Amino acid sequence: MADSEQLLKLAQQYGTPLYVYDGDGVVQHYRALFDFIPWPRLRVHYALKANYNPMLLKLLGEAGASIDAVSPGEVHLALQLGFPKERILFTANNLTDAEFDEVRDLGVLMNIGSLSRLAKAADRAPGMAVCLRFNPDVMDGDNEKTMTGGDLTKFGILLEDIGRVLEIVRRGNLRVVGLHEHTGSGLQHTESVFRSMKQLMSVATPENFPELEFLDFGGGFKVPYKPGEERVDYYAMGREIVSLFGDFCRRYGRELEMRFEPGKYMVAESGWMLTEVNTIKHNRSRVIAGCNAGFPQLIRPVLYGAYHQIENLSHPAGELHCYDVCGNICETGDRFAEQRELPELREGDILAIGNAGAYCYSMGGIYNLRPMPSEVVIVNGTARLVRRAPSHRELAQSVLGEYQL
Ligand code: LLP
Repeated sequence: MADSEQLLKLAQQYGTPLYVYDGDGVVQHYRALFDFIPWPRLRVHYALKANYNPMLLKLLGEAGASIDAVSPGEVHLALQLGFPKERILFTANNLTDAEFDEVRDLGVLMNIGSLSRLAKAADRAPGMAVCLRFNPDVMDGDNEKTMTGGDLTKFGILLEDIGRVLEIVRRGNLRVVGLHEHTGSGLQHTESVFRSMKQLMSVATPENFPELEFLDFGGGFKVPYKPGEERVDYYAMGREIVSLFGDFCRRYGRELEMRFEPGKYMVAESGWMLTEVNTIKHNRSRVIAGCNAGFPQLIRPVLYGAYHQIENLSHPAGELHCYDVCGNICETGDRFAEQRELPELREGDILAIGNAGAYCYSMGGIYNLRPMPSEVVIVNGTARLVRRAPSHRELAQSVLGEYQL
C-alpha cells in the first residue's frame, strides 16, 4: 500500500499529474478472490478495460489471471503480453465481420451477445466453438450508465430467445462451450449477483447445451468509494455463489468451471492520480482550487457523478474548508469534486485522487491537448516508471499524424 509520504516523493520525482499504482495490491485482490469463492475450478478473467497498464497485466498474468477482452486491440495486447489464447475470452458488442474474422483467426474464444452475430457466426464459421452472452434481466450497478441487464441495454441475448438460439446453434453446428452474463458495474446488492446467476443457470441445461465447460458470471463486484461506505462481505457472497453453483452442477450432471470477470474490484483501490493545485480563486460563493489535470485525465466524476476521495498530501493537518476542486480544461463542468471539505488547500499542494486504479487512465483522452499523465507502478516498495507522459511539444507533433506541412 502506497503511503502519503511515498506518493509525495513520487510527485516530486516524476512531476504531476501522475498515476501511481500499487502492483502488490492488485495481485492481492486477485488472490483474495480464491479465498472468497472457494470453488475448485474458479477462473478469474481480469476485465482489461479497467486498466491496461502493461506492468499490472504482466503481474496478473504471472499470478495466473486470465483476460476478459472487449476489442481486438485488447486481445492483441493480452497476446503480446504473453497471455495464452486459451486464457482470453473475447466479449465484444456490435462487432464487424472483419473484427470477427480477425479474432477468430487468432484462435481466441468468442462470447457472442446477439442473435444477429450468432447467425453470422453460424454462416461464416460452422462448427466453431462459442460462448453465448445472455442478458440476465437483472438491473443493478453504481449508476445507470453501467447497468447492463434489462431491455434498455444493448447487451446479451434475451433469455426468452433461447428457442431461436438453439435453432441457430443447430443450423451452424456451433459448439457452445460456455454461457455468460454481466449484470453491471459496482453492483449495489449482492442479491443481484445471485439472481443473475440463477437466470443464466435457468437456460444452462444439458438438453440445451450438452457441451458446456464453464459458466461466466461477469464482473461488477462493488468496492467502497466514499468514506464510511460499507465493504461488501465478499466471504458471505462467495459462500452463496459456491452453494448455488454446486447445486447447479449437480443438476447439470458435471462439475463445470466457474468464471468471473472483475475489473473495478481488482484495480480500483490500488490507484491514485496525483495532481497539483496551482490556482486558488475566491469567487463570491465558492472557493475554487484549480489543478494541473482535468476530466480527460480522470473522467469518472464528470461522466457518472462519481465520488472519488481526495487527500491533501502536502497539508494534511490544515484547517478544513470547502472547495470546488477543478481541472484545467475549458469547461465549467470540469470538476473532480464540488463543495468538498478538505484540509486547507494552498497553491503548490499535491492532491491524491483515490480509487483511480479502475476506469480512470483507461478512459482518458487528450481533449484540450493535455497529455495523459505518466504511470508508475510500485512493487515490493520499488516504484517503476511504466509509461512516460509525452511533452506538450510531442503531443502536438503526434496530432499532425500523417499530415504533411
Ligand atoms: N465483463 C464485462 C462483459 C463487462 O462489460 C465489464 C465492464 C466487466 C466484466 C467488468 O466490470 P467491473 O468488475 O469492472 O465492474 N466505466 C465504468 C464501468 C464500466 C464497466 C463496463 N463493463 C465506471 O467507471 O464505473
